[in-house]
Amino acid sequence: MTALADALRGVTVRLEQAGDARVVEQLTADAFDDPRVPQLVESLRCSDAWMPEASFVAVHEGSVVGQALFTRSLLDAPRRLVDVLVLSPLSVAPDVQRRGVGTALLRHALEQLRTRDEPLIFLEGSPSFYPRFGFQPAAPLGFRRPSLRIPKAAFMVRPQPTYEPWMTGTVVYAEAFWRHDCVGLRDL
Ligand SMILES: CC(C)(COP(=O)(O)OP(=O)(O)OC[C@H]1O[C@@H](n2cnc3c(N)ncnc32)[C@H](O)[C@@H]1OP(=O)(O)O)[C@@H](O)C(=O)NCCC(=O)NCCS
Repeated sequence: MTALADALRGVTVRLEQAGDARVVEQLTADAFDDPRVPQLVESLRCSDAWMPEASFVAVHEGSVVGQALFTRSLLDAPRRLVDVLVLSPLSVAPDVQRRGVGTALLRHALEQLRTRDEPLIFLEGSPSFYPRFGFQPAAPLGFRRPSLRIPKAAFMVRPQPTYEPWMTGTVVYAEAFWRHDCVGLRDL
């Protein structure tokens, strides 16, 4: 049996619950080694971008070891503003990285989110990691980055079942991303 299959056996994914916040904050700090990212999560949690049904955590041996957070942002489309989701951050505790936790977390979360109304999920991240989850470069579909500091190849989108081709335009991040300057952080 592969190491990946071994690891997956012991990991469950569930929605974040009351009482998880402090552990999530710590694992986010550990995963990113950048104090702005846990601050971003806390600010999002207190904002109207937060959706309790879209913060997923991975649990391994009774401990929360990962979080996939989706929050509400806007697409400034020609017809109207469109509510969209942004995946940020995706965090796995350093001592269990590269054992399938992030993959299990993201696959479960995306499956749960398929029936939501928001037609698009955006992220900025590694072009070698996210395409396996249905993300693709966003610019060719007519989307513009919220910041020129986001490398073009890192700006990705996953169209959902409610996506329609008229939905193009500029992604406008929720305010917390700007407040903590958590835009365009990623190196490729
Ligand atoms: C990126 C991250 C969420 C992946 O979770 P994970 O549990 O380690 O990933 P999995 O074990 O499910 O998948 C492993 C694959 O992810 C990819 N991967 C993992 N970390 C990566 C990184 N920093 N950059 C690019 N790809 C990465 C690799 O392709 C790897 O495949 P490999 O084992 O063949 O090399 C995790 O490593 C992490 O929290 N990193 C620090 C924070 C971060 O950069 N988050 C993503 C940006 S929001």
